[in-house]
Amino acid sequence: MKSGNNKLHQQMHQASVSQPEQFWADAAQALTWDKPWDRVLDESNMPLYAWFAGGELNTCYNAVDRHVEAGRGAQVAIQYVSPVTETEYGISYNELQAQVSRLAGYMDSIGVKKGDRVIIYMPMVPETAYAMLACARIGAIHSVVFGGFAGNELASRIDDAKPKLILSASCGIEPSGVVAYKPLLDDAIAQSSHKVEQCIILNRSQLQAELTPNRDVDWQNAVADAPDIGCLSVAATDPLYILYTSGTTGQPKGVVRDNGGHGVALAWSMKHIYGIDAGDAFWAASDVGWVVGHSYIVYGPLLVGATTLMFEGKPVGTPDPGIFWRTIAKYQVKSFFTAPTAIRAIKRDDPDGDFLKDVDLSCLNTLFLAGERCDPDTLHWAEERLNKPVIDHWWQTETGWPVAANLMGTAPVEVKAGSPALSVPGYQVEVVDEMGDKVEANISGNVVIKLPLPPGTLTTLWQNEQRYLESYLSMYPGYYLSGDAGYMDDDGYLYIMSRIDDIINVAGHRLSTGRFEEVLCQHNAVAEVAVIGVEDKLKGQVPLGLVVLKKGVTLSDEALYKELISLVREHIGPVASFRLVSAVQKLPKTRSGKILRGTMRKIADNQEYKVPATIEDPQTLELVRNALTRMGYADALLVK
Ligand code: COA
Ligand code: AMP
Repeated sequence: MKSGNNKLHQQMHQASVSQPEQFWADAAQALTWDKPWDRVLDESNMPLYAWFAGGELNTCYNAVDRHVEAGRGAQVAIQYVSPVTETEYGISYNELQAQVSRLAGYMDSIGVKKGDRVIIYMPMVPETAYAMLACARIGAIHSVVFGGFAGNELASRIDDAKPKLILSASCGIEPSGVVAYKPLLDDAIAQSSHKVEQCIILNRSQLQAELTPNRDVDWQNAVADAPDIGCLSVAATDPLYILYTSGTTGQPKGVVRDNGGHGVALAWSMKHIYGIDAGDAFWAASDVGWVVGHSYIVYGPLLVGATTLMFEGKPVGTPDPGIFWRTIAKYQVKSFFTAPTAIRAIKRDDPDGDFLKDVDLSCLNTLFLAGERCDPDTLHWAEERLNKPVIDHWWQTETGWPVAANLMGTAPVEVKAGSPALSVPGYQVEVVDEMGDKVEANISGNVVIKLPLPPGTLTTLWQNEQRYLESYLSMYPGYYLSGDAGYMDDDGYLYIMSRIDDIINVAGHRLSTGRFEEVLCQHNAVAEVAVIGVEDKLKGQVPLGLVVLKKGVTLSDEALYKELISLVREHIGPVASFRLVSAVQKLPKTRSGKILRGTMRKIADNQEYKVPATIEDPQTLELVRNALTRMGYADALLVK
């Protein structure tokens, strides 16, 4: 799609950079404030800063109650579509207000107060959104944990967030069958040192969970007689939620989001990026356990009074690759957001787009893609089949909303395949070399963002400011380190090519290879291990483990690999998609002992590679290469 709006995009960007306080004060008019802010941007404590300091508001009020007051009560707020349970129903803003205020009333009655943490470990059902909004209503800080994570992952989050309450459900429903959540929850609570005293359990008809006495209450019983409770004014700078994301170590990072900046940024993005206003239908086919779900299933669409779709199913197999298109048509979705993996899955199962043929998609303006790099083939396939703009955009859990995007609501620009387009207003993105000097156009480097980041981005890591400063702000003083590498072309289009750390992206899910290594090392046959992300046609990347065994291991390779695969599933969860593992005699390392993961990845992905000058034993690369070849990887070219 060609368009001449680069100028408008640039003007908006320039305004956001030269007069950020004016720019974001204007944007903040989209929300209802209980008390105006003292300063739009408080930079008195750089590199820490605060947006809308002194202001007060309530995020739930802005997402729910004010739309009821404005006469939108009868409009559908959440359209639940669950092909896996063959259930579909709409929840109006009136009903949403009733559900949320009662759940909040119950939480308040059992002593959950402002600032207390509440963990939500739930599947894709409307109650998950009620739970998040109920926390926001009383100023409690929610932390949603993705349902595909195992009990151990939940336990580490319980120990970090120290929740007063956990909300969970009896089960999730996956194409493979009903996944019981309660045993995972019980296991996590038993493992964690922080003792959780209360749980609210949503019993679904597909599986009834037995409640643990003196700890669990049934969701429906809890809300049946609970009093409605109003919205508590909180400081704009108070935390709204913590969302854990993978870092380079096994310990996840608790990204903290505030109330004021978050609401302002999301409302701005709904209009300018996604082209969504009150009354429109918007659908982000992700999971509430990820940042996409937080920002664009729950908060973004509701903050602007739109209808949001909540989908419990997969792009394919539930029941077929036409489910996305039929759902868009049925609910008149105007903007649709999913991950490139989902499109690749549809393309694999329906290469000619047969399932699109009888569907009227005239309601749909734009398909947005994010979560992983979008390969040009996938982009073009979708463009050709849908005959609509397909918009790649780049962001992260930390930023909470897009950093680079095409402003489809106000200033669409030319689409360049492989690029998420231009820096969004508020973000000053630069590409720098190791010394921090800006590189020239088309030269790769580290992608950084000049401080301060705009409203809505992370304010710190939960109870770990030191790690926040070290991970993001210390490598290049005055800049935020995104962890991604890429380049900018002559027109300022950004290209995100890879991570600079050991994070991998599996089907749009961000995972730490460090965590995989920690888990694999627990096996008593394993002496040493390296996990790398290798290219995968469907999921973008999948993890591959190379293990060095202790002397005297008698287990057959096959039995060992099975045990290692189930160890990862048990400790990280099914979402890890860990299926590739091989034993090697030795791992390639530098003379200082650093494992050469980058070189191994290049070999696996059939990219040209060089034997690093610092390698301790060049023979080890051959061993790894042989193992990778046996697994169907590694046709790489060795460059002398
Ligand atoms: N609760 C319990 N288990 C879950 C789960 C959840 N919420 N989400 C995923 N899982 C399980 C799956 O059942 C699967 O288990 P299995 O190994 O027993 O089959 C495993 O985790 C991997 O799941 P998934 O990544 O969904 O892979 P898949 O092979 O089942 O499906 C796709 C492949 C492409 C259809 C799927 O990855 C997909 O829809 N991707 C889109 C990604 C996306 O929306 N990402 C969000 C970021 S924006
Ligand atoms: P998450 O925090 O789980 O949302 O993952 C964020 C990471 O996913 C980014 O740092 C990138 O590595 C990758 N990512 C997300 N969106 C894109 C995109 N559009 N293009 C390339 N990489 C992306």
